[in-house]
Amino acid sequence: MSKKNTNTRAVKVQQKNEPTANDTIQKMNTIVSKQPTFIAVDLGTANTIVYVSSHGIIFNEPTILAYATKTGEILYVGKKAYKMVGKTHDKITLVRPLEAGVISDLEATQDLLEYIFNKYKINDLWENSIVLIAAPSGVTELEQQALREITYKLGAKFVFIEPEAKMAALGAGINIFRPKGSLIVDIGGGTTDIAVIAAGDIVVSDSIKIAGMIFDEEIQKMVRTKYNVMIGLLTSEKIKFSLVSLFTTEQESRIGAYGRDVATGLPKVFGIDPEDVRRALKEDVIPRVVHAINELLEVTPPELSADIKQSGIILSGGGALFRGIDTYLESIFKLPVQIVSNPLLGVIEGAKLYEKEIIKNVLKEEEKSASMAENMQ
Ligand SMILES: Nc1ncnc2c1ncn2[C@@H]1O[C@H](COP(=O)(O)OP(=O)(O)OP(=O)(O)O)[C@@H](O)[C@H]1O
Ligand SMILES: [Mg+2]
Repeated sequence: MSKKNTNTRAVKVQQKNEPTANDTIQKMNTIVSKQPTFIAVDLGTANTIVYVSSHGIIFNEPTILAYATKTGEILYVGKKAYKMVGKTHDKITLVRPLEAGVISDLEATQDLLEYIFNKYKINDLWENSIVLIAAPSGVTELEQQALREITYKLGAKFVFIEPEAKMAALGAGINIFRPKGSLIVDIGGGTTDIAVIAAGDIVVSDSIKIAGMIFDEEIQKMVRTKYNVMIGLLTSEKIKFSLVSLFTTEQESRIGAYGRDVATGLPKVFGIDPEDVRRALKEDVIPRVVHAINELLEVTPPELSADIKQSGIILSGGGALFRGIDTYLESIFKLPVQIVSNPLLGVIEGAKLYEKEIIKNVLKEEEKSASMAENMQ
């Protein structure tokens, strides 16, 4: 059951003499002896993206590792491991550290982060670093704690975890700090995160375990029952990419695929009617996304609903690239739907922009510990 979150934090209005973000950064540099590195991590079920200030995006690959089954040695990470999905023998074990937005394998998550930072030979950057992790809003306090522990173990000085929907809204270019409501829908690989954001934070949100990977599974099931052919998940993802639109179009032809004929057990090359793919997705999975958006709109405070009526739905995450999804949602909600300029990078772009906010929080924590130390003397 997904959680709803109602944030009742007061709106903070910037006063005339209040320090600006730049003042804050300067002040902080005098407090922290060494200039800290800002690291942002979009830890996604399907893809992990890591940004390091002064280096840019250093990693953007599938969230998956291949281990030697016997020794536990890491063989491949990211793209190379992803290519092996459905093609391994028992000497190789593929592990996805996250499942449906939840950390299902802590050790593998740590291996992944360690691998990334070792590979790019910037390991010492962890020392004294400020790390921002974007996580699905359904991640529990316990899972967040585990993430923090992993990151502190790697040497980070400060770790912040922010909901990915909030980062996606920032990445979409929305000024989330205004007292104005925006509705963001991030359709990722494992979860669809839906949030109404205003005055710098999430007001109401929901995270459902229906997203791109479930779309792939639905296509796989449909092909098994309708065509009597077994296909792998990589093939069903390719079929999803090949679909010209969620709506019937004239220029469409059958989608070619490879699989194993269930009756003969032999490899088969066959064509899939795009209408079957659409039906498979429109029957159950996409309506569940629609239902979740609807439910959230129902609990959105009226003033914010009025804002959303104007601004519409902002669509982010890889699922936003699903052709026709914007028109489909527009037709259902009678609201404008805008796809962010780079849906796969939306969260990390937002996390980059959040650096100044994070620095302010670091400063507060530094000041708090300095005054505690003073009081103890
Ligand atoms: N052109 C496309 N059409 C349809 N789906 C796409 C397209 N490109 C990518 N996707 C899907 O987007 C999903 C990955 O999106 P994204 O990288 O935003 O997920 P994630 O952040 O790793 O997952 P989550 O946020 O759920 O933990 C995959 O399921 C992929 O199949
Ligand atoms: Mg994501």
